[in-house]
Amino acid sequence: MEKFVIKGGKALFGEINVSGAKNAAVAILPATLLAKDVFVIENVPDIRDINSMLQILEEMGAKVNYITRSTVRIDTRHIDSKAVPYELTKNLRASYYLIGALLGMYSNAKVAMPGGCNFGGVRPIDLHLKGFSALGAVISTEGGMIMAKAPGLVGASIYFDKVSVGATINVMLAAVKARGVTVLENAAREPHIVDLANFLNLMGANIKGAGTDVIKIEGVSDLHGCDYSIIPDQIEAGTYMVAAAATQGDLTIKNVIPKHLEPISAKLRECGAIVEEYDDAIRVYATGRLHGCNIKTMPHPGFPTDMQPQFTVLLALCEGISIVTDSVWDNRFRYVDQLTRMGAQIQIEGKAAIVQGSAVLKGAPVRADDLRAGAAMIIAGLCAKGTTEIEDIIHIDRGYEDVIPKLTAVGATIARREFPDDNSVAKRA
Ligand code: EPZ
Repeated sequence: MEKFVIKGGKALFGEINVSGAKNAAVAILPATLLAKDVFVIENVPDIRDINSMLQILEEMGAKVNYITRSTVRIDTRHIDSKAVPYELTKNLRASYYLIGALLGMYSNAKVAMPGGCNFGGVRPIDLHLKGFSALGAVISTEGGMIMAKAPGLVGASIYFDKVSVGATINVMLAAVKARGVTVLENAAREPHIVDLANFLNLMGANIKGAGTDVIKIEGVSDLHGCDYSIIPDQIEAGTYMVAAAATQGDLTIKNVIPKHLEPISAKLRECGAIVEEYDDAIRVYATGRLHGCNIKTMPHPGFPTDMQPQFTVLLALCEGISIVTDSVWDNRFRYVDQLTRMGAQIQIEGKAAIVQGSAVLKGAPVRADDLRAGAAMIIAGLCAKGTTEIEDIIHIDRGYEDVIPKLTAVGATIARREFPDDNSVAKRA
């Protein structure tokens, strides 16, 4: 098995370049199925989730060629499959976007139930399916496959009972070619929703209001290929911002949109870190002991749940008690057990974590329970005395491009190493 091995206790100094946004790319790549044409997409991150999505498109008949490491040419003119088996979707949560895209293009989709990050709990897709039904699709499930079929989709007014990134994206994909007007109310407002809408509009769609909670989609009959550059990854940037503050370092994080980072910047400033914004870069540094603050995750523009584990590590090091509440996911504190092994003092009470600050973290063998939990373990390892070994790094590889070279270049001692399989935290526990 592969692990990350970190020798902690070094502040990070220098510059880090952020890659393209995973959660925008996993929506934009399936959106290419909505036209039989050629696309050139830039700023595509080289990470497992994206490679899985590209592989799925290839299996369906698309031609995928890399022009550079981050620029991909996708030719969807010869798509010959509208069914996506479990073998391909089991490692990728966002494979459910193939339902929306196939339904939008062919009024017919058959996609295996998605796998991916679970946080140990259930991740429902009822809101996605409710949206498809409102557009006229008949949904059924059989043998782990979701089938969606319609004689022809028709625009509708859809109110989401809960703000959902995935449902907003999926229903947008399905509605973009539907007859008439679709209005999505209580829609998610994340930067990747706006990015997808911009991409679809460049393909010839007519979408207004993305970035607000009401999105209006006027169906069009034809879409075409385009060239597009994906936005920078808000969460990758935020992770390095927190790493700068937690290690008492000074990082300039480049290729970012500072506006997308505002909720993270605001909380870092509340802790006493200095955050300087530039046109497409952000500098974060700490000049002394930081103090804790309370965090409550919310849909955008609130504090992102995908930054909750990383920020909790910082709060464990800050002075004072902090309360972290996750109001988006019910089960996102599993990683706390691993942090406790390193010396953090955190108690879970319902949807909140009570973080007793001023922890002195010590290196330990730990596990990356999921993608952002893994990012939190890296930050903890960077701040800990001694050596931290992180296993299950497959989760980290799903979402962070070049994490080892990027961190090494700013002074971290971190490496990817091969270990025998019986050297696992789970087996030793
Ligand atoms: C997206 O997941 C992201 N994934 C997640 O990031 C992120 O944590 C989440 O949005 C919230 O920001 C991708 O973009 C691929 P939701 P998604 O639908 O779309 C409930 C990461 O680390 N809900 O906005 O699945 C759900 O249970 C990943 O990069 C329903 O009840 O999240 C949750 O409580 C992890 N029914 C809340 O809504 C539904 O049909 C928000 O989920 C759908 C969701």
